[in-house]
Amino acid sequence: MEKDPLILGIESSCDETAAAVIRGRTLLSDEIISSASVQAKYGGVVPEIASRAHSDAVDEVVMRALHAAGVKKEELCAVAVTYGAGLLGALLVGLSFAKGLAYGLNIPLIGVNHIRGHLAASYLEDETLTPPFITLLASGGHTAILHTKTKTESEVLGGTLDDAAGEAFDKVARVLGLPYPGGPHVEKLAREGKNTVPMPKMLKGLGGYDFSYSGLKTHIINYVDTKEQKGEEWSRADVAASFQSAALDILAEKTVEGALERHVETVTAGGGVVANGYLREKLQEACGRAHLKLVLPAKKHCTDNAAMIAAEGLIQYEAGNFSPLTLNARASIPLR
Ligand SMILES: Nc1ncnc2c1ncn2[C@@H]1O[C@H](COP(=O)(O)OP(=O)(O)OP(=O)(O)O)[C@@H](O)[C@H]1O
Ligand SMILES: [Mg+2]
Repeated sequence: MEKDPLILGIESSCDETAAAVIRGRTLLSDEIISSASVQAKYGGVVPEIASRAHSDAVDEVVMRALHAAGVKKEELCAVAVTYGAGLLGALLVGLSFAKGLAYGLNIPLIGVNHIRGHLAASYLEDETLTPPFITLLASGGHTAILHTKTKTESEVLGGTLDDAAGEAFDKVARVLGLPYPGGPHVEKLAREGKNTVPMPKMLKGLGGYDFSYSGLKTHIINYVDTKEQKGEEWSRADVAASFQSAALDILAEKTVEGALERHVETVTAGGGVVANGYLREKLQEACGRAHLKLVLPAKKHCTDNAAMIAAEGLIQYEAGNFSPLTLNARASIPLR
């Protein structure tokens, strides 16, 4: 087995068609073709549109990634591809392409769980990172705190009881009349506002490492409806800032609590919400106060990308976990 294997990663679980090449833990290329601007017209991802966009883009994005890395496909040691969770039709495009490539080149196929990919993104940021560490996972479909004990084993300490943090950002964005995907727009608007609108308590001190976002979302819908019905003035920017702080402060706090309770000295994070500058600052402050090392993936490696899929592919490659060519796509894979 190669010491620093050359691995191609492919991601197509939602509206991003992405391909990346790594050599060991060094990222050589990282390409992405997104259909998000098309999806924005519909206020969310339309599965059939996503599948068609993937099938138009997959060949080109893989060729671009190989070219940018300066490698030939014949040099690859393995193809890692997201097989779940995600939109079935979308996943099948990337998975079928990866199977064809692996079969044609006679190299291993490695099916990657998208969420394990988000957790692996930090390995690319810091080539010295090794478990144990505590990870905050906050994405469009998941919000959890995990204790990674070895490269292949993680324990879920707690997670959301209802909506994911990213989902809450997307729903609140709609209420505020902001486009999809909502997270970056809410963050931008929040920078112009003040944290002055009262928000419900976010299971603080209760519920261990669990979270709940649906109450926060409903509170904001009711707040805006009431203000509109009474004809009272209200500030969209203040609502955005107050929501952002209520939604994210708790994540930083509980992540650090997890590290201290488990006597783990390193904290990492992953998922689209971790691209949020306010959350990154809060994590930095909280880890700094507790003297914990913090590794945050680059913002472009927090939202969906193929570099993280290649990074998790490397872990599975080293563990000898290869997938059969009969591997099927999965719409959901439970976190615990
Ligand atoms: N700057 C930001 N601030 C807050 N949220 C953000 C920001 N950037 C992206 N997000 C949110 O992150 C989510 C997208 O993240 P990601 O691509 O990891 O989710 P997903 O792949 O749809 O879900 P999952 O990874 O759980 O399957 C969206 O909900 C989006 O609004
Ligand atoms: Mg994701």
